[in-house]
This record gives sequence, structure tokens and C-alpha cells, in this order.
Amino acid sequence: MKLNNNSIVAVIGSGTMGSGIAQVAATHGHKTYLFDQSSDALEKAKKNLLSIHDRLVEKGKIDESRKVEILNNIIYTNNISDLKDSNFVIEAIIEDLEIKKDLFKRLQEVIKGDVIYSTNTSSLSIAALSSSIAKPENFLGVHFFNPAPLLPLVEIVPSFITDNSITSQVKHLIDSWAKITVLAKDTPGFIVNRVARPFYSESLRILDEGIADIATIDWAMKTFGGFRMGPFELMDFIGHDVNYIVTESVFKEFYYDPRFKPSITQKRLVEAGMNGRKSGRGFYNYAEGALNPIPLEDKLLGEYIYKRVIVMLINEAFDALFMNIASKEDIELAMTKGVNYPKGLFEWGDELGLEYVLKRIQDLNNEYQEDRYRPNPLLKRMANK
Ligand code: NAI
Repeated sequence: MKLNNNSIVAVIGSGTMGSGIAQVAATHGHKTYLFDQSSDALEKAKKNLLSIHDRLVEKGKIDESRKVEILNNIIYTNNISDLKDSNFVIEAIIEDLEIKKDLFKRLQEVIKGDVIYSTNTSSLSIAALSSSIAKPENFLGVHFFNPAPLLPLVEIVPSFITDNSITSQVKHLIDSWAKITVLAKDTPGFIVNRVARPFYSESLRILDEGIADIATIDWAMKTFGGFRMGPFELMDFIGHDVNYIVTESVFKEFYYDPRFKPSITQKRLVEAGMNGRKSGRGFYNYAEGALNPIPLEDKLLGEYIYKRVIVMLINEAFDALFMNIASKEDIELAMTKGVNYPKGLFEWGDELGLEYVLKRIQDLNNEYQEDRYRPNPLLKRMANK
């Protein structure tokens, strides 16, 4: 069976991501099962989705009958056998390889018909997860971004064994959900979580070296880079537990490549439970009346910070292209639509001039003599053209 708009979707895990993904599928007319082992989690998802749709009605975005139609498309269940007729499974449970594999085994005991299995994992290998599937060629990654109903990007990640026709069916279906899909290779961090690392890590390095404080670095990246949020504001927003774990997992998965080395400063925040906004404190203090640092608005310093971070980001985008993680177009789309960069990194490189970008990285390399600052071969090739 080919996936189409009548296909039955099963979203597994009704947490942050699962409930958002179920909303997207239901909005696009699918009968959507939202399964969770926890009745509390299901209850919470149901309440959340109701209040989100009530707000959409209040704002005049949808009318009452459309709200009822969308919400009626979602069936909440903690009984796995209810999923037996599913055509497309999207797994969004806890980020744990063995627990996910066990879930896929249980699903296969229940779903007997033609079905495509997918995972929303951020950091696990698609190939490793597919080993729990009897037909691994019918399995792939579909990586949504948080919040799933609002952020348009979805990374489609086939493993080396996924059937091409499965990949194109899933891509086609998710495109029909008003999403922007990009194809990414089954490698750590896929596109976004790999290419975006220097936004955080180079900013943390600048902080750790004592070149500037958090407020000044945030100010520099917003003022000179045009980013909507500075790196420290963004890490506080994402949550250090989440952001640090992604950094650590990308670092480990790349066999400890120093380019991806995490920062001890961020690790300490996680250890102290200061995970950012949600904890009331991260790099900034969110308590009422708390005193937070004020940026030192020095143009030269700000430009130095912005240029140092942006050339590292451009170098990383070149590496993703060099290693065939995705096409140039998809890398541009991923960074502008998944993490709202004001422009694509290749476009940015062209604007700054690739010779300049290369020179800055070579300067850093000469200064620090660290492998972290090695220029990508493709960047070198293009800059020397
Ligand atoms: P979450 O903690 O909000 O929700 C996970 C849900 O899965 C919980 O409701 C839990 O009860 C349920 N669950 C756990 N084990 C289960 C099992 N064996 N069977 C059924 N339900 C089970 O987690 P979140 O943030 O929604 O993440 C889910 C997945 O999405 C993870 O793989 C994560 O890496 C990925 N992801 C998360 C993003 C984020 O920003 N939170 C972004 C993109 C991907």
C-alpha cells in the first residue's frame, strides 16, 4: 500500500514531540492514534491539544467545526493493540536505544499489514534502530523540530538499507503536511544538530577564554549576525540538559573529534540543575527582579565575536556538504527553516567571501594549533578557485 492522505498514522509517545506530530497529522486529515504507556501523559496531551485549538479558534485561525474535526481525528490510547491497522508509525518516545527497539518489537506483534516504521530520534543511529524491524528497508528517520506544528523543517533520514521508494513516499506525505523536508544521511546530528554546533560551542569557547561575557556575545550575534536569539539565550531556551546531551552525543559519535568538544562550563550548569528558563536559571537568571549582565557594546569586540562564530558555522556547513550528508540546497533550507538562521550558511560564506572565511579559520588554527580549527578541504578548494 502507498501512503496517502487516508493512511492511518500512529504516533508513539505523547510528550512534547509526539503530541505536536499527532496534531500535524490530524490537521492534515489523518486518523491518528496517539499512544503512550502513561495515562497521565495522554491526559496531559489531550488537555494541551484542546487548549491549543481553543486558542486557534479565539484568534480566528480556525472555526469551531474545524477544531472538532481535527480533534476528532486523534484517538488517545494506551492499548497497543488499537494500533493494529496503522499504515505509518512515527515513534517519539524516550531517547533510549533499547527501549525504542523493544517498542518496535512489540508493535510488530500487533501490526500485521503493510506498514512503514519511522523514528523521530535526534541522536540515535537509524541503522541501529532498524535492526529491531523485520523489514529494515521499511524503516527510516523523520526528524521534526520543536514545536513540531510551528517549525516547518523535517529531516528525512533513510538508513543505508532503507528502500528508496519508502523514502520518497514518506517525503511526499510529509511534504503534503505543509512541511519542508530535506534528505539527510544517517550520521550523528543529521544536518541541523551537526552544522549548528559551533553556534553554541564557539560562543562557549569565547566565554571560557574570557574574551567576552554572555550578554556581550548574545548582543554580538544578534546585532552583527542578525540571529533572533543569542547563543546563551537560545541554550537557556532549549534547556542545557537537552542542548548539552546533543553536543556530547555528537562528540562521542564522531569518535571524539575535537571540533565537537563540549564545554565544561555548560556541563557544570547541567550538573547544578540550572537547565535554563524552565529551571528559572541557566546562564541568565529568570527570577523576578534578578540582575543580569549588560552587554559591553563595543563594535570591534562584537564584530570579532560574530566573525569567529560565523566562520566556524560556515566551515561546518562545508563539512556536511563535503561528507555528502545532504545537498547544498537542503543544508541551506535546514538551517533557515529548522533553526531560523537569517540566511543559509553558503550564502553567508559568499557574502563574506570564501577567501576571507578560510583566512579567519587558518588564523585561528595558527593561533591555537588545535584540530578544532581545521579548515574543511572543500572550503579550501572553493576559496582558492
Ligand atoms: P518527552 O519526554 O516529552 O515524551 C516522551 C513520551 O514517551 C512520554 O510521554 C513517555 O511517557 C512516553 N514513553 C516513554 N517510554 C515509552 C514506551 N516504552 N512506550 C510508550 N510511551 C513511552 O520526550 P520528547 O522531547 O517529546 O522526545 C521524544 C523523542 O523525540 C526523542 O527521541 C527525542 O530525541 C526526539 N526529539 C526531541 C526534540 C525536542 O526538542 N524535545 C526535537 C526532536 C526530536
